[in-house]
Amino acid sequence: MNHPLRKVVVPAAGLGTRFLPATKAIPKEMLPIVDTPTIQLIVEEALSAGAQEVVLVNGRGKGAIEDHFDRAYELEDQLQRKGKKELFEEVRRISDSVRLVSVRQKEPLGLGHAVLAARHAVGTEWFGVLLGDDVVDADEPAIGQLVRFARKTGKAAVALMPVPETQVHLYGVAAGRAIEGGHVEVDRIVEKPPRDRAPSTLAVVGRYVLPPDVFDILANLPAGAGGEIQLTDALAVLAQQKRLLGVRIQGVRHDAGDRLGYVQANVAYALKRPDLREPLLAWLREVVK
Ligand code: UTP
Repeated sequence: MNHPLRKVVVPAAGLGTRFLPATKAIPKEMLPIVDTPTIQLIVEEALSAGAQEVVLVNGRGKGAIEDHFDRAYELEDQLQRKGKKELFEEVRRISDSVRLVSVRQKEPLGLGHAVLAARHAVGTEWFGVLLGDDVVDADEPAIGQLVRFARKTGKAAVALMPVPETQVHLYGVAAGRAIEGGHVEVDRIVEKPPRDRAPSTLAVVGRYVLPPDVFDILANLPAGAGGEIQLTDALAVLAQQKRLLGVRIQGVRHDAGDRLGYVQANVAYALKRPDLREPLLAWLREVVK
């Protein structure tokens, strides 16, 4: 990668079956962590790493995401009239902060297929991918940590974090030659391996920095696990070509795509809010007695 990060792809066309019935009419990415939709946290992470354009991969019935990043005239007008200046500014900030391009994935045929749908909007430059399922609370934005390594090494980068051995079957798992800082020159990467076949306990976190030729790789992939086009299979091709770095990212990761992880993320983020921390702590102490 020989330029700063400009474009990021945010796939949001999945069915969100793990969050039914909430996701029957509401996109999973709009479910809030305290009061902020996960997709807004993701977009803010990308912007604070310097990204200028977000390519949203959207599906049927998920227009609420686009509306969230659009101007909301009636709401803004009401807030102004009622003198709710801070709320007005917050709502305005969300739509002013981002240039969003939306593309359609016509059928949810997998994460790799979703990224491929962004091909024409991304063009021929390196780009980031961020998944709303992983919320990473970090001093340096997680995607920015990857960009730093991709620019230094010229390789694609995938975020990794160690997980307990009992959980490897839930994640993409990567292994390879360890280099300075605990990072890895990836030579093997597999999606959701059975526990006894996992090559390591380093799990993929949903952040990637990828070269434009990954689109050719994706376009030529056969369907993988679950009959879906898997992004992990494209990463495996990059790994075979010795072009993939596993970056152990710093920060606290919440698996917001899982119900328990989602509740934990809400508690963790609420505890960071000065107005919520004390009353929440008092209540938690009461209920865990
Ligand atoms: P997940 O597999 O976690 O999302 O994909 P999902 O399919 O919505 O969730 P469940 O398993 O049914 O509960 C990770 C991310 O990739 C997107 C999802 O929207 C999610 O943000 N995705 C997944 C797509 O955009 N298209 C797909 O075909 C699959």
